[in-house]
Amino acid sequence: MAFLEVKNLTKSFGDVEVLKGIDVAIEKGEVLSVIGSSGNGKTTFLRCLNNLETPNGGEIIVDGETVFPSHVKEGEFSEKLTFGLVFQGFNLFPQYTALQNLTLALNARAEIRLKKQKVGFFDRKKQLKLIKKENEEYALDLLNSVGLSDKVNYYPCQLSGGQCQRVAIARAMALKPKILCFDEPTSALDPELTGEVLKVIKELKENSKITMVIVTHEMEFAKSISDKVLFMADGKVCEFGTPEEVFDNPKNELTKQFLKNYNE
Ligand SMILES: Nc1ncnc2c1ncn2[C@@H]1O[C@H](COP(=O)(O)OP(=O)(O)OP(=O)(O)O)[C@@H](O)[C@H]1O
Ligand SMILES: [Mg+2]
Repeated sequence: MAFLEVKNLTKSFGDVEVLKGIDVAIEKGEVLSVIGSSGNGKTTFLRCLNNLETPNGGEIIVDGETVFPSHVKEGEFSEKLTFGLVFQGFNLFPQYTALQNLTLALNARAEIRLKKQKVGFFDRKKQLKLIKKENEEYALDLLNSVGLSDKVNYYPCQLSGGQCQRVAIARAMALKPKILCFDEPTSALDPELTGEVLKVIKELKENSKITMVIVTHEMEFAKSISDKVLFMADGKVCEFGTPEEVFDNPKNELTKQFLKNYNE
C-alpha cells in the first residue's frame, strides 16, 4: 500500500461538481506536483486533503490509516497531524512575531495535553513554562533552517513576501505533519522573491525527506523537484506519472495543449 492513497475523491459545491473522482497514490518521501489550468479544482483537492473541506465521497488513506472518512469523533483531540498546508497568501497571524507564529500552536497543543492529563493548575504552569522554553528553541531551529535566524522577532508586516512564506513553511513543519502541502507557494510573490522560497522547498526535500504535495504553476520547478506529477483537468486526473512522462512524453491531448500554452 502506498504512503498516500486517494481513491475516487469527489467534491461538489451545490450543483457544481469540482472533483469528479480523483485517484492518486505516492510513496513516502515522494514529492507530488499538481498542475492544471485555473479553476480545475487543485486548491479544492488540497483543502479536502487538509480537512478544510469535507469531500462528498471517496477515501484518503495515509500510512495505512483512513483519514477520510474520519474515525475521529467531533471534539476529539489528536496529537498527530497528518497534513500541513502552506497557503498561497501565507496566512500568518499579523499580531504575532515570526517566532510566535511558530510557537502558538505548539504551546496550545502542550496546554491541551496537560489539561487532558488532568495535571493540577500549579504543576501545569510549571511544566508549561519548561515546555514553552523547549518549543521556543525548536522554533528558533526551524526559523534558522529557512534562513531567518535574524528575523525571529519581526512581525509579518516587517518581512518581505518571501520571508513571510518562509515563516509559513517553518510553521507548517513545526507540527511535524506526515505530508506537507503547498498551494502555489510563490504565486503571491514578486518574481525576484520566488527563487528563495523554491530553494527552501528543495532543501526541505533533501534534508527532511518529508512527503509533499505541491500545487504549482512553476513548471520548471515542478519538473526538477517532483517524483510524480498529476495534471488535473475538468476535476479529473488527466495524466499522472514521472516528470519525464508528463512533461516530456505526455499522452493526453489536454496535457499536450496545456504544456504548449505554457511554453509559448
Ligand atoms: N467554497 C466554494 N464554494 C463554491 N464554489 C467553489 C468553492 N471553492 C471553490 N469553488 C469552485 O470550484 C472550482 C475549482 O476551484 P479551485 O479553487 O479548486 O481551482 P484551482 O484549480 O485551485 O484554480 P486556480 O489555479 O485559479 O487557483 C471553481 O469553479 C470554484 O469557483
Ligand atoms: Mg487554486
